[in-house]
Amino acid sequence: MTVRIAASLLSADFARLAEALAMAEEGGADLVHVDVMDGHFVPNLTIGPPVLRAIRRSTRLPLDVHLMIEAPERTLSEYLDAGADWISVHVEATRHLQRCLDGIRRGGARSGAAINPATPTSALSAAWMDLDYVVVMSVNPGWGGQPFLPSSIGKVRQVGLEARSAGRSPSIEVDGGVDLTNAGSLVGSGAEILVAGTAIFGAEDPRGAIRRLREAAHAPVRV
Ligand code: DX5
Ligand code: ZN
Repeated sequence: MTVRIAASLLSADFARLAEALAMAEEGGADLVHVDVMDGHFVPNLTIGPPVLRAIRRSTRLPLDVHLMIEAPERTLSEYLDAGADWISVHVEATRHLQRCLDGIRRGGARSGAAINPATPTSALSAAWMDLDYVVVMSVNPGWGGQPFLPSSIGKVRQVGLEARSAGRSPSIEVDGGVDLTNAGSLVGSGAEILVAGTAIFGAEDPRGAIRRLREAAHAPVRV
């Protein structure tokens, strides 16, 4: 399995996004992870479609857009139009999960469903056919720099098991507190995409941090 590293801009300097994007590219990141927060689904507010559009113009990397917003079905098309390549919505934030996932795919992007730490994996059970990836939140969403919740490792394995018993194999992404200490265990449990913000942009050398994270990910630890 090829592991993808997604550099989360949330921990970058928002006044210097172009520099952060250049560092992500030079360090060999596979995706740029963009955290969209609406001040309702999570208390924090970040960026929306206009800034996403500017990011799109400033990098060749695919944009993995994580929507932490209520009722994403209302504004999904704006994120598609702004250039998102991958879009995840939270199962806790919509009554219309299937409609969202279908809309993402029809808009030409990969469809993802994110689950909070308190949300059981069974919340995905009706959605396997419409999902390209699952985002297992390993912190409660809202801020970067929070400590990793170790129960997420077992949850990643559980998602993989349930998907396979439904005859599907979506990519599994892990988001929150990912660093050199847990990357190997996450990949060993079936994670394919590692999102990292603080571990990259909080490091002295973000390019080197991406390379080290990839090395740790390629030494999977069976747990
Ligand atoms: C948290 C966001 C994450 C965040 C991860 O709500 O969804 O993408 O940027 O940041 P770190 O890696 O610092 O936990
Ligand atoms: Zn995120």
